[in-house]
Amino acid sequence: MSIEDELKTTIKDLVQTHKGILAADESAPTIAKRFTAVGVESTEASRREYRSLIFSTPNLADHISGVILYEETLEQLSLDNVPIPELLENQGIVPGIKVDAGKGPLVNAPGDEITYGLDGLSARLERYKALGARFAKWRSVFHISGTQPSNQAINANAEVLARYAADCQAAGIVPIVEPEVLIDGPHSIERAAQVSEEVLLRVFESLHRHHVTLEWMVLKPSMVTPGKDAGKATPEQVAEATLRVFRRVVPAAVPGIMFLSGGQTPEESTENLNAINSLGSQPWELSFSYGRALQEPAQKAWAGQLVNGEKAQSALKKRARLNGLARSGRYSPDMENDN
Ligand code: 13P
Repeated sequence: MSIEDELKTTIKDLVQTHKGILAADESAPTIAKRFTAVGVESTEASRREYRSLIFSTPNLADHISGVILYEETLEQLSLDNVPIPELLENQGIVPGIKVDAGKGPLVNAPGDEITYGLDGLSARLERYKALGARFAKWRSVFHISGTQPSNQAINANAEVLARYAADCQAAGIVPIVEPEVLIDGPHSIERAAQVSEEVLLRVFESLHRHHVTLEWMVLKPSMVTPGKDAGKATPEQVAEATLRVFRRVVPAAVPGIMFLSGGQTPEESTENLNAINSLGSQPWELSFSYGRALQEPAQKAWAGQLVNGEKAQSALKKRARLNGLARSGRYSPDMENDN
């Protein structure tokens, strides 16, 4: 297949009506935090057991089109000794891979951060592709305060995101471009809207400068919400602010916008996605690429015990199904009571 055909096929497989992405690419320190919260020690064996279990959920592909993996998982075997990427492909789910190398302070911009991982990226992409990965993810973060994010932080992260996306497309791997505007802090929804608009504008300028083909990428942004110390907005307010910003700065050529959950509860993130999809048709598919909001209930149900496997799988299936309904505005909170 030509590179162009590979990219087109992966976009078609990833961006599907009623489906979204499961982000299961927590780094070793992050998954350790999640496991500690449910009383489990994070070891290679426990990570393998948990991830193998959830990826084997019967009919997961009804609502999940792709799974983002961490490097360790891409090379792991399932509990039945099938390579994890193969296990996913056999279910009709596209395997993807987180390729950024984490983040750290941006020099001369106190409090801002920059994401690492461009050096040697092309060679890593070739290796990941040989292991079965067909799409990739890179996360940049933007903190909100009175003065943050600085212009340096916005421009530097936008540049790096675009260079990553260009490298991915050259390798026949669909890039998920994730500029996360963090929910931490007491800022208002209007301040979040202002920062999101600026960040997305700079990201699309950089993508244009690096000749990234917008039709062959996916955007993974934050919804526009107030900071978590500022009190909640209604789903209708979140939907209105999010779409107002996106309609201004996200080109219609982008096939899919797949939101991160970013610290929203599972129910909130489903309700907000539903409200966004209730405001009429938009130029892009509006879906989910949730980590915590899909997995939290499954992790609690599993609690490190293989005997709880089926409970964990049904907890994941439930969130995937409800978010699948929210893709077309057909979710309602009373569905939370169904199993
Ligand atoms: P959350 O949905 O937990 O924010 O995770 C999504 C993700 O992939 C962060 O990079």
